[in-house]
Amino acid sequence: MSSDAIEIGEVGPDDLETWAALNSRGFLSPRRPSATRLDVLRKQLSENDFRLARINGVPCGAYRSWDLDLAVPGPATVRTRAIGSLSVLASHRRRGVAGAFVRGALADARERGIALGQLIASQAEIYGRFGFGPATETVHLSVNTSRLRLDRGEITLEATDDPSLREVAAPLYQSVAAHLPGALPRNDLWWDRACGLIAEPGDADLDRPAVIARDPDGTVVGTASYRIRGDWALDAQAEIELLDLTAATPAGYRALWAYLVSLDLTDRIRAADRPVHEPLPWILPDRRAVTEEHRTDFQWLRLLDLPAALTARTAQAPGTLVLEVRDPMGYTSGRWLIDADEAGHFTATSAPGRSPDLTLPVQTLGAVYLGQTPLIRLQAAGLADEHRPGAVRQLDAMLSWAPSGLVGHTWF
Ligand SMILES: CC(C)(COP(=O)(O)OP(=O)(O)OC[C@H]1O[C@@H](n2cnc3c(N)ncnc32)[C@H](O)[C@@H]1OP(=O)(O)O)[C@@H](O)C(=O)NCCC(=O)NCCS
Repeated sequence: MSSDAIEIGEVGPDDLETWAALNSRGFLSPRRPSATRLDVLRKQLSENDFRLARINGVPCGAYRSWDLDLAVPGPATVRTRAIGSLSVLASHRRRGVAGAFVRGALADARERGIALGQLIASQAEIYGRFGFGPATETVHLSVNTSRLRLDRGEITLEATDDPSLREVAAPLYQSVAAHLPGALPRNDLWWDRACGLIAEPGDADLDRPAVIARDPDGTVVGTASYRIRGDWALDAQAEIELLDLTAATPAGYRALWAYLVSLDLTDRIRAADRPVHEPLPWILPDRRAVTEEHRTDFQWLRLLDLPAALTARTAQAPGTLVLEVRDPMGYTSGRWLIDADEAGHFTATSAPGRSPDLTLPVQTLGAVYLGQTPLIRLQAAGLADEHRPGAVRQLDAMLSWAPSGLVGHTWF
């Protein structure tokens, strides 16, 4: 007799191809997983937990999860459980497979003392029901460079290519990202793939120029890599697709853009997955040369352990308030006495008998945790109830942060 029970099992080297095929189909890839892709997944097997779901013995769902250290205001990091590559066979959707995956991953993470769950959502309607809130946003920029000229200042710019950039770009990213709450870690495998050292067969011979910016004493203060899209002709210009740009200082940032906008035979730069605080319009003589083509949520967070999540980051202002959290899954529900001292140390203790200054759903907490989304905006959307006037502004002041340095978003 058959049963519709969902069985979730670990994936080892023998199941990896099944996992990969299911995943490719779920994300609408027109091809079967290539040997390169399988190699990458094999490497990821040692650091990620891969899972397959079966119903009546039929493999029908796949995902992976892993621990990462997320940069938070401090600078500090907090151990976070990432969920990725989640897909369910079209014939087996809406039967609870994804829900079983996500609930299982969160329960396991909480049991191991992990403070937060994290993911990048393919569709915005899916993960709110599990307590996730959108914590960072991303913009796709388009820059009309036909009339732009920028001064490079005292920065030296060295033209190179992507593979040679790797050993300079990786440590620069790591040092800049540590000061940018929400920046995700990039491991060796990530860099090998980003720099074309591991490439799909059709991508292996792509030319990806790069540039390194150094300040007058030779310190690396920025790196960028790009690709040319389209052809130039006597009456047409090509486009630049910015692949990555990291800047440690305002001078490095300006010099990299000065270089990019000056490239001959091109008249547009498209830059995907840039942070919303990208200061580009402020350095251009004509700020309207840059437009946001697309802006959307990027990283979603789910608090699993409220005291651990708050004490992992610093507060930008002192204050004390009683916060009531609604969390249908129970991880963070209840009333909490939140305190931040002058030195920026947060504490959160259970305070069931206290009357709340503020009530909010756990999704709101995930959205404001990194300090990128002001709570006052969510209050205006009805996603926070203030019981004491000023409580929303007070929590906003405690959670806010000011970015320094610049990195692009990181897909995993
Ligand atoms: C998104 C996906 C993983 C959902 O899988 P699933 O097994 O059908 O999801 P579940 O049956 O567990 O549904 C869980 C809940 O989410 C809802 N849901 C799932 N996918 C949804 C979607 N695309 N839009 C709106 N709601 C969705 C379900 O209705 C259900 O709600 P309920 O608990 O209130 O009844 C699946 O549709 C899929 O593989 N899509 C393509 C790949 C993809 O987008 N993956 C997500 C990567 S972040």
